[in-house]
Amino acid sequence: MIVTIDGPAGAGKSSAARALARRLDFQFLDTGAMYRAVTWWALDRGWPLDRPDELARLATQLAVDWQQERVLVNGQDVTAHIRLPAVTDAIHYIADHPRIRAHLVELQRRWACNRNVVTEGRDQGTVVFPQAECKIFLTASLDERVRRRLEQYERQGVAVAREAVQQELLRRDQQDTSRPVGALRQADDAVVVVTDGLSLDEVVNHLEWLVRSCGERARREVPHEGSSPLPTSDRDSVSGETLP
Ligand code: C5P
Repeated sequence: MIVTIDGPAGAGKSSAARALARRLDFQFLDTGAMYRAVTWWALDRGWPLDRPDELARLATQLAVDWQQERVLVNGQDVTAHIRLPAVTDAIHYIADHPRIRAHLVELQRRWACNRNVVTEGRDQGTVVFPQAECKIFLTASLDERVRRRLEQYERQGVAVAREAVQQELLRRDQQDTSRPVGALRQADDAVVVVTDGLSLDEVVNHLEWLVRSCGERARREVPHEGSSPLPTSDRDSVSGETLP
């Protein structure tokens, strides 16, 4: 079964997707980490970001893998570098390029093949897994996203002005929603979850309930034995859930 979680930066997708995957005993895929890893690699190697054809020629040869929440490029673990501000600033060179996206989309599909997956990103329900059984669009108001980002910075001991955080999120929203391919968009059949005022636990409870409802619906549509998109261990515990 594939569960997709798309949404804007700062909506809490990664934490929610990771926790949801753990609850369901699914695997978690962070596709943003893949875009970040390629960006870091390109910066580290001094690749020409301003020459899209050359950049795509190089980037589409990379093997990008995700193993136990680590991201590997050509077998090298680059996880420690991918959250650097320089990577976030340059990521549009990679994420906007149709051929580089096509390469990463292909790797994501191969990774998810024959697995139960909760995958998180911008284009998972629209482009990468349009056939996913359960699609979630996880979002929050700008104020809430700013508040959470500020809390994150505070925990890391980094002092950042509220205005700067807000501008950064608005810039990323603009980039994510306007790229020529793979733009952030709610799939027609996605369920929108607004996380304002909810704790992580409350969000994950709700997402778990949604996934199990999707599983129920899929079983009703294809009722014969062995058609369940949920793993066997989940089948008996599906009935009777209510919203938290
Ligand atoms: O999820 P995260 O914020 O780490 O993603 C970093 C950036 O990678 C996003 O802002 C977006 O530009 C890009 N991205 C993307 N498609 C995805 C996941 C991330 O374009 N599926």
